[in-house]
Amino acid sequence: METTLKVSKIKDGTVIDHVPAGKALRVVSILKIENNPDVSTTIAMRVQSEKLGRKDVIKIENKYLNRDDLDRISLVAPDATISIVSNYQIKEKFTVKLTKTIVGILKCPNQGCITNVKEPVNSEFSVVSEKPLILRCFYCERNMTEKEVLSQL
Ligand SMILES: Nc1ncnc2c1ncn2[C@@H]1O[C@H](COP(=O)(O)OP(=O)(O)OP(=O)(O)O)[C@@H](O)[C@H]1O
Ligand SMILES: [Mg+2]
Ligand SMILES: [Zn+2]
Repeated sequence: METTLKVSKIKDGTVIDHVPAGKALRVVSILKIENNPDVSTTIAMRVQSEKLGRKDVIKIENKYLNRDDLDRISLVAPDATISIVSNYQIKEKFTVKLTKTIVGILKCPNQGCITNVKEPVNSEFSVVSEKPLILRCFYCERNMTEKEVLSQL
C-alpha cells in the first residue's frame, strides 16, 4: 500500500499506473492529448514504486481509453494498470496486456512486404520477445525492434 498519493486526485477520468520510468511522455503522445484544450493531464515521472523501483504515472481528467489506445499503450508499457475513476473513486481497474499478435497498428519496415505493396492486407506481427520488445512480421518474417516500434507510435 502506498502511504502518500504523489499527485492530487482527479474526480473523473483515467489513471495509467506502472508505466516504465521515463515512458510517460510516449504514452501521452500515443493518446494525442497534449494539444486537446479540454483534457487536463498530470504526469508523475520516476516516482518510487515497490513493484518497479521507479515508475511513471499519468492521470487524465474526463478521458476514457478505447481498444486501440490500450493496444498501443501495451507496446510501450506492457505492465501498465488502468484505473477508471468516477467521483474520486476507482470504479474499474485492469492491466493492459500485450496481445500475442498485433494487427493493423504498425507498418512493416520491409518496403517489399505484401502488407506495404498490396494495400488491403493488414499488417500482422507476433511477439518474439517482450523485454526488449521484438516483433516479427507474419508475412515476410522481418523482425521489428523496440526502437522501430516506438518510432511509429
Ligand atoms: N481519485 C483518484 N484520482 C487520481 N488517482 C487516483 C485516484 N484514486 C486512486 N488513484 C491512483 O490510481 C492508482 C491505482 O490506485 P489503487 O488504490 O488501486 O493503487 P494501489 O493500491 O497502489 O494498487 P496497485 O497494486 O495497482 O499499485 C494509484 O496510482 C493511485 O495513486
Ligand atoms: Mg501502487
Ligand atoms: Zn512484413
